[in-house]
Amino acid sequence: MVFSPLLVAALLPIAAQAANDWSQPCFGQCNWDINSGSGSGTVQITGTQSGVSDLTTAAGWSILDCDANTADQDIRLVCQNPDAGCDHIHTDGAAGTLVRLPTSCGSVPFALVTRMWTHQDQSIPANKRALLTRRDGTTPTVKGISLSTNFSEADPSQKGNVTLHLQGSSIPGVATNFTQPPPVDQLNKRGLLSWVGNTLKNIGEIHKNISGSSPINFSKDTPLFDQSINCPQSGAIPAFSGEVKVDLNGKVDGTVNYGVAASGSVIPPKLDQFGLFVGLDTTVTGTLNLDATLTGTVGTGQIPLFQTGIPGLDFPGILSIGPTFSVNAEADASLDANLNMDVDLDYTISGAQLFFPPSSGPSGAFTPGDSKLQLSVSPDVTANGQVTAHLIPTLAFGINALDGKAKATINLDVDAQAGLDLSLTASGKASTATDGSKSADKSFGGCVDVTSGLTVSAGADADFLSIFDKSTSVDLFKKTFDLFKKCFGDSAARRTYTGRKARAELLSKRASIACPSSALASAISVADETVTGSSLQ
Ligand SMILES: *[C@@H]1O[C@H](CO)[C@@H](O)[C@H](O)[C@H]1NC(C)=O
Ligand SMILES: *[C@@H]1O[C@H](CO)[C@@H](O)[C@H](O)[C@H]1NC(C)=O
Ligand SMILES: *[C@@H]1O[C@H](CO)[C@@H](O)[C@H](O)[C@H]1NC(C)=O
Ligand SMILES: *[C@@H]1O[C@H](CO)[C@@H](O)[C@H](O)[C@H]1NC(C)=O
Ligand SMILES: *[C@@H]1O[C@H](CO)[C@@H](O)[C@H](O)[C@H]1NC(C)=O
Repeated sequence: MVFSPLLVAALLPIAAQAANDWSQPCFGQCNWDINSGSGSGTVQITGTQSGVSDLTTAAGWSILDCDANTADQDIRLVCQNPDAGCDHIHTDGAAGTLVRLPTSCGSVPFALVTRMWTHQDQSIPANKRALLTRRDGTTPTVKGISLSTNFSEADPSQKGNVTLHLQGSSIPGVATNFTQPPPVDQLNKRGLLSWVGNTLKNIGEIHKNISGSSPINFSKDTPLFDQSINCPQSGAIPAFSGEVKVDLNGKVDGTVNYGVAASGSVIPPKLDQFGLFVGLDTTVTGTLNLDATLTGTVGTGQIPLFQTGIPGLDFPGILSIGPTFSVNAEADASLDANLNMDVDLDYTISGAQLFFPPSSGPSGAFTPGDSKLQLSVSPDVTANGQVTAHLIPTLAFGINALDGKAKATINLDVDAQAGLDLSLTASGKASTATDGSKSADKSFGGCVDVTSGLTVSAGADADFLSIFDKSTSVDLFKKTFDLFKKCFGDSAARRTYTGRKARAELLSKRASIACPSSALASAISVADETVTGSSLQ
């Protein structure tokens, strides 16, 4: 049995067809698809009959001079096939009409006609002459058209608004699977709002079934802080070289994909709704190492460790997304004990889909792995200590819509942190203890609390429409895990445990790194264990 091509085409599901049909003129409504190697997408513009027209061969036009790599320019063209509808451009005058362009003309899919005239240069290139010569031997008049991507130049009161509906994916070739056609009643603003949300959800569902994510990876052992001081002899304390050293061995190994949906208008240029979703599978692991024989406060601020680009998505002249992947680290410590600490960070994020603006909670799994913890402190002082460290992989999505009409960077931070909270009290017997941890154990006491945590948050660096406020950062996921919490030694020492907040205030008054004012005995181990991830969940 043989099917005619027409019949086969009729049997294909509608959704599997590209939205932009180059064989049909688009009058009043046009589509355009991204078919490039990086990403896929489709955008639809809808206006009045006089507001949206077509300069491709489907509408009868043949373009003679046009730079394929420039947006705003004057082009020469002729009407090759009047029957196809060249005249449509003249409906209510050509100026102010938004037109579809063939890929060979202009760097953008759509441009605004600002002027149309009979061109002074009526020459027709030899290679086109035969094609364009009519039966009576004449050639058509060469027209000139000025194209602009400054959509503000159009007056919406003349030809009406031209609305815009856009959906895109970082994964090539999936635009044909998008199943959310733009709403027919585009004046229904409530419908538009849910269109963006539903469209993003649909892209998210499609992404669950396909591969094509971009790798994000990072591995580096970085000193975050290192300061040495030669401490002179002070009373009974002999001279020594003290040091505070914070080191982070961090690793990120994962993949990312994203999708976007937006609605608004090209004329006037305005974005009404915008949504972004990010699909993330990654591990974030690392070991924080802290060694200190000095006292004081360390604050490193955010230290950039790494940055690279991720393939972007470009609807030229309409909306572009340029993402980057970066990794930052930060450590803060306040100490007055001889302290050595090693603590692991270990998180796995799998199948996560994060939506902006945030809808329901994120899907996917955020699970801690096993964490090894080693902590040693000097036993014979009354001391407090607080340490927090962060390893923060960040995905930043730079967004530019309608030539800067709406511009922002949306950040997604995956903050893996570890914290130590320590309170020690020396008892009177401390000075008589001479050897080994056992006697030292009896001579002092305290409490130690080691936590780890994972926070996934989103924020924007500029006010973007009314949906993102510059000042807001939204926590999409936040969980803290108690790795180790223990009080030890004599009960008098335990009673001095004042709690996290009180001690943070105490420690915040502390000045910069300095030599200790009393002798710090060599550190003894108070914790050496591995906390399994399953015990934390
Ligand atoms: C775009 O057009 C508007 C209105 O005509 C004008 O005010 C503005 O300066 C133009 N922008 C650029 C970049 O030419
Ligand atoms: C055209 O767009 C403007 C700005 O978004 C809006 O205020 C106006 O209501 C729209 N007009 C129509 C007829 O939709
Ligand atoms: C996309 O659609 C095609 C045709 O309907 C189908 O074969 C393919 O499995 C779909 N892909 C995804 C990722 O859903
Ligand atoms: C994804 O795959 C599942 C199982 O194969 C299927 O039920 C579902 O319809 C698919 N979703 C999409 C959007 O293709
Ligand atoms: C990340 O992965 C890519 C491809 O898998 C590889 O080419 C690149 O060297 C890796 N980068 C790092 C920092 O590991």
